[in-house]
Amino acid sequence: MKVIAHRGYSGKYPENTMLAFQKAAEAGCDEIELDVQVTKDGVAVVIHDETLDRTTDGSGAVRDYTFEELRKLNAAKLFYGGTVFEPVPSFNEYCRWAAGCGMSTNIEIKTGIYYYRDIEEKIAEIIRKYHLEEKVMFSSFNHISLAKIKQIFPQAKCGVLVDDKGIGNAGYYCKSGGFAYYHPDVKGLTDETIEECHREGIGINAWTINDMGDLERLYEKKCAGVITNYPEVCRAWIDCRERKML
Ligand code: G3P
Ligand code: MG
Repeated sequence: MKVIAHRGYSGKYPENTMLAFQKAAEAGCDEIELDVQVTKDGVAVVIHDETLDRTTDGSGAVRDYTFEELRKLNAAKLFYGGTVFEPVPSFNEYCRWAAGCGMSTNIEIKTGIYYYRDIEEKIAEIIRKYHLEEKVMFSSFNHISLAKIKQIFPQAKCGVLVDDKGIGNAGYYCKSGGFAYYHPDVKGLTDETIEECHREGIGINAWTINDMGDLERLYEKKCAGVITNYPEVCRAWIDCRERKML
């Protein structure tokens, strides 16, 4: 079972920053999950919310800022009393780093609330630039974005993101769209859905696994991955389990 670091090592470091990504890699995660939005001048950036207020010292919508303006903001506002500065990374900056260290990435395309024009092409261009086609998978709550990614990269692995309401026959749904993975909120994930997905040949990467009971259950049910804020804890538990120490 893969350990996928949710927004990097976001349990201990400022989410979606290069610091959180580097720390997730050091913690031994298998993959990093991050969120992509687009600035006013068309730069793909790594930030979870459509607005800046929660995680940075700025306010307003990401899409109303140029990249140069955005770079002046501190994305580590919620940590260290705001005394440490970490910028919002560009997606290009992240990919340069991931290519350098060989990290795999789950790219979440943030088009569920605002549909950024050509975001899929922008992301694809950077992936091609760094030859990361084999090292990435895509997910989105907006399944049109996943369909567009499949047009660009027919072999791409895609995960269908859903909230805790889930989809009753998720396995059939994913398979019908040519999507290899289902990415549900663990709060609504039933054993029946796990079994139905597996019968249809669909892997499950559930989020957000910050509870040992959830981790153990998904491991027993042979899920493909856990998307967690605590990659170090999940790594240690899975490694012990596989060495039959637990
Ligand atoms: O990709 C899993 C998870 O990141 C989806 O929700 O809101 O954390 O992006 P969110
Ligand atoms: Mg996400």
